[in-house]
Amino acid sequence: MSLEGKHILLGVTGSIAAYKAAVLVRLLVREGAEVRVVMSEAARDFVTPLTLATLCRYPVLVDNFDPTNGAWNSHISLGEWADHYLVAPATANTLAKMAAGVADNLLLCSYLSARCGVSVAPAMDLDMYRHAATQANLETLRTRDGVGVVEPGEGELASGLVGKGRMAEPEEIVDYLHHVFAAEESPLRGKKILVTAGATVEPIDPVRFVSNYSTGKMGYALAEALAERGAQVVLVTGHATAVLSRHSNNNIERVTALSAAEMYEACARRFPEMDGAVFCAAVADYTPAKPMAQKYKHDPSQPFLLELTPTRDIAAEMGRIKRPGQVTVGFALETAAGAEAGDYARGKLEAKRLDAIVLNSLSDAGAGFGTDTNRVTIIGRDVEGDGIRECAIPLKSKVEVAGDIADFMSGLFGR
Ligand code: C5P
Repeated sequence: MSLEGKHILLGVTGSIAAYKAAVLVRLLVREGAEVRVVMSEAARDFVTPLTLATLCRYPVLVDNFDPTNGAWNSHISLGEWADHYLVAPATANTLAKMAAGVADNLLLCSYLSARCGVSVAPAMDLDMYRHAATQANLETLRTRDGVGVVEPGEGELASGLVGKGRMAEPEEIVDYLHHVFAAEESPLRGKKILVTAGATVEPIDPVRFVSNYSTGKMGYALAEALAERGAQVVLVTGHATAVLSRHSNNNIERVTALSAAEMYEACARRFPEMDGAVFCAAVADYTPAKPMAQKYKHDPSQPFLLELTPTRDIAAEMGRIKRPGQVTVGFALETAAGAEAGDYARGKLEAKRLDAIVLNSLSDAGAGFGTDTNRVTIIGRDVEGDGIRECAIPLKSKVEVAGDIADFMSGLFGR
């Protein structure tokens, strides 16, 4: 999503990271955005208005009026002009004032009057960042006002301490803004999507279990790709070694459900309120029929026979109760290749009443569990009519594949 012609209001507050605002303005202008800067009084001690005004080619505003001639700087007009208001760096003090609705400078008045989306890029010492007050203020801004948070990174801080609190790098912030604008135009914006991910864990006794090799990489990347496109994601996750990137938590609610039964319960509870779902988890098809309450005492003279009982098929059950308009996407991991794998996948598409199925073939190099790459074919209902269309995605990173699947899914909402 290009930033060409976008109106970006940048609020700069008094943190040492204010020097990075200069690089940020430069990058935004280079991308074709129109940038206006409003600074807090304290920010002037770290970077001069002249520097930022030169880079954005427009006077920088600090006060509610011009002290030399009394001309009024209207916070309303800044808020109306902007397509997005980004406060970077955002200090603990300014975040607290934003959360409390304090309006004692132009930067804050502009926040209260802004009609566009707002994001903050916090920058502060690690203890200030992790303080419950700061975290509560960020949560208030997120949940009450829908403010996006460009999470700070970990590293050396101005205090000499090392930890989380460094403002995200200007390049990361620009990347974040690309997603913000892409989300504003995506059919996925505001859609509630459930994503299952990772491996289920089925207990044999209190210390042993039956599971599989899924790492959750594909499902977590999908949750992020959907969230980046503006969806509100509920990520129901089994065991996973994958982690969410630090910028994606704005629109992702994580629910842990380790066993197939727990995952089924979580999905059955949440699916009715969803607009769609992606079933990416590697759910056990069988679970120990009688998990033992005590650790099993092994006896090397005897074979150990474990009775397994079938689990419920979550995708199929949700397919059974799905209402018109709900879009569901499943995965088919096949060890077969070619036409045979395609036939299996199409069979699952029908049996589970899915709108699309993503076929992974373990026989393809670079595809499957634990790898960072994947090669898939998306088989989906035709947006135009009742037909089926196939979309072969070449070998790519799982993050890119997740973007392609999310785009395919957004097409299904656009029907
Ligand atoms: O039938 P198969 O297990 O190959 O189907 C795979 C698809 O069904 C995946 O989308 C997977 O997440 C989903 N599934 C499920 N619950 C199960 C088994 C599979 O949601 N118990």
